[in-house]
Amino acid sequence: MQNDINILGIETSCDETAAAIVLNGSEVLSSMISSQIELHQKYGGVVPEIASRAHIEKIYPIVEQAIEQSGISKKDIDAVAVANQPGLTVALIVGLTAAKTLALALGKPLIAINHIHAHLQSSMMDVQDLQLPAIALVVSGGHTSLYKCENILDLHLLGSTIDDAAGEAFDKVASILNLTYPGGPSIEKAAKDGNPKAIHFPRTMLAKDSLDFSFSGLKTAVLYYCCGQDMKGQSRVAQMSQKEIADIAASFQAAVIDVLVRKTKMAADRFSAKTILLGGGVAANTLLRMELEEMASRTNRTLLVAPKKYCTDNAVMIASLAYHKYKAGLFADMSLEAKAGCDN
Ligand code: KG4
Ligand code: ZN
Repeated sequence: MQNDINILGIETSCDETAAAIVLNGSEVLSSMISSQIELHQKYGGVVPEIASRAHIEKIYPIVEQAIEQSGISKKDIDAVAVANQPGLTVALIVGLTAAKTLALALGKPLIAINHIHAHLQSSMMDVQDLQLPAIALVVSGGHTSLYKCENILDLHLLGSTIDDAAGEAFDKVASILNLTYPGGPSIEKAAKDGNPKAIHFPRTMLAKDSLDFSFSGLKTAVLYYCCGQDMKGQSRVAQMSQKEIADIAASFQAAVIDVLVRKTKMAADRFSAKTILLGGGVAANTLLRMELEEMASRTNRTLLVAPKKYCTDNAVMIASLAYHKYKAGLFADMSLEAKAGCDN
């Protein structure tokens, strides 16, 4: 019988410093997150230099707290896993250096984790019999990607955004509408009182069979709507009623979700997927979850979605995915580097 495996996961790819201990890939013994939202809020987006400094300040206290709260001792940690790509290099490198140091000090293996793949792992952590193939949609602040999933460690990229990521579009449109950062939750809240059909914003589908995404045209359409087509006029947002802001937010949200659902269905049909997986920060959006659920049940598929608390960045997803790499013997060495981009 296989022994219990405790993995320490570390996440610092963007603006959350996180550490977690997960037992056997699914039992969360601890999960610590230090969010930098307040530090970046006034800039309307993440400032890499500020993110890096905050990670340096927080990484060791957060790791210590994760170990303490887990109830296990350091010697019971079987491996140290870290997100080494994709993300802000100056941020990733902080978690990577901490993970290497801990792995060396504890004499335990190091496991490299792709942050995007880890977001998907959050949707299948507790699933016993995953029906494959699955089509996986990751929607975050930095990425919008569709994968074909043959098994948990075998993800094939089918398409991704050619410009803005879905979360990035939420953040930028929130900024146009003078709503607070991060934009996703603010737009979702404002949209509750709005009419999603009030304004018809464009749905960019690209070439007929394309599984890529593009959201910059939609963002520009919102900008033109608020500032005038020639951009010569002042933004009207300050003079708009709550209802008008709500209508813009709801119409924008509907356009993003429409494209995400249509492209996901297209991929699922093409590859006869039995399951649809959804992860990433934007997966916290209730309407997106509902619309994908509706599409999945209409087409006789199962939708697996990350629990809301594990949609945005966290280290549980890192440690959970690392368990599968541990079992497969996929370890990294001390030459592991931080990468801004993504291998897959
Ligand atoms: O996965 P995540 O925490 O970080 C990245 O890996 O990028 O995603 C953050 C993104 C932000 O753009 C944020 O606005 C978006 O997720 N987000 C949402 C919601 N909650 C967070 N977007 C739409 N609706 C939400 N409820
Ligand atoms: Zn993320």
